[in-house]
Amino acid sequence: MSGSPNLDEALERLPKVELHCHVEGTMRATTVAELARANGVALPVADPTELYRYDSLTGFLEVFWLVQSVLATRDDWARLGYESAVDGAAHGLAYRESFFTPARHLAAGQRLGDVVAGLDEGLAAAEAETGVVVRLILDFDRDFGARAAEEQVDALVELRRAGAPGAERVIGVGYDSTEIGQEPGWYAEAFGRAGAAGLRRTAHQGEDSGPAAIAACVDLLGAERIDHGLSILADHDVTQRFVDEQIALTVCPSSNIRIANAFPTLADHVYPEMRSRGLLATLNTDDPSLTDLDLGLEYRNVATAFGWGWDQMVDIALDGVEACWLDPAAKAALRARTEAAREALRPGSRPQVGSDALRPDGPT
Ligand code: HPA
Ligand code: ZN
Repeated sequence: MSGSPNLDEALERLPKVELHCHVEGTMRATTVAELARANGVALPVADPTELYRYDSLTGFLEVFWLVQSVLATRDDWARLGYESAVDGAAHGLAYRESFFTPARHLAAGQRLGDVVAGLDEGLAAAEAETGVVVRLILDFDRDFGARAAEEQVDALVELRRAGAPGAERVIGVGYDSTEIGQEPGWYAEAFGRAGAAGLRRTAHQGEDSGPAAIAACVDLLGAERIDHGLSILADHDVTQRFVDEQIALTVCPSSNIRIANAFPTLADHVYPEMRSRGLLATLNTDDPSLTDLDLGLEYRNVATAFGWGWDQMVDIALDGVEACWLDPAAKAALRARTEAAREALRPGSRPQVGSDALRPDGPT
């Protein structure tokens, strides 16, 4: 809590964009337990939240993979998509570009078309109910290597060519999972094919690697955003380039405390330095259900830790709009909605009942 109920409530209701969130990492603990039971996946504990304590990215990934493994059918993906968007909307989510990482499901025999169609079905239902809008980013799991990434791009491009259900919702590709022992350049072919097909590109880097690897994602993979980018400030030139070119970072401060163990507390995080250097450093949750988080809470956490007020937090929300991959008209509409909310929800002022800014409709 920020200590100001007014600010807390306004941050919760502020229409927010999220660019770094893994749909599997939004799975409710009750859903993890139910799907595990339905699909015969043995969990080592009855309450999955007992597993949600990590001391490193590697330790976290073991849990993330276990959670992923409970998704067995198209209906499971639909349920996940639906609950993910409904839960986001409850905390002021307006628009999300959400990762899904299907490598282990495909290796186990699931079809990409079923994963995408299932997610699309659930997301469409949640969109109709809440007004939130969600697009998808297919993330390659680096643990499965570059050839698997290339096969996934080819399969996605084929689904889009065939007009398969939900394929148009997938607007980009990225990669995630372990960084250690990996080279960005290994994935140049996969990202190149994706770019040639008109897909947008982002990359998890700098969570467990240095600034040279971050720069390599831009140079070798055509990455337009970097997910985390935590180590960037260690290199002045790379930082300055990201400032000059306004290449976005999708920063997840609480995740960096709880998953990467990169800082002892939020107050020690480099997020304020990133922003004061002029980096387009957006604010995101990463894996909210696996870290006891939601986007409203992350905004409140950050406001409290760094002593930031309403206008600074609205500026962060606007940077999310700036860095997203909506078309220019939809971006302008979302920017206008956020600016309207700046005035309508301003703590200390009387709420304007019926104001457009409070209407839970999407940006498109
Ligand atoms: N980093 C790498 N892989 C991940 C993450 C992350 O933050 N979240 C889910 N998979
Ligand atoms: Zn992530």
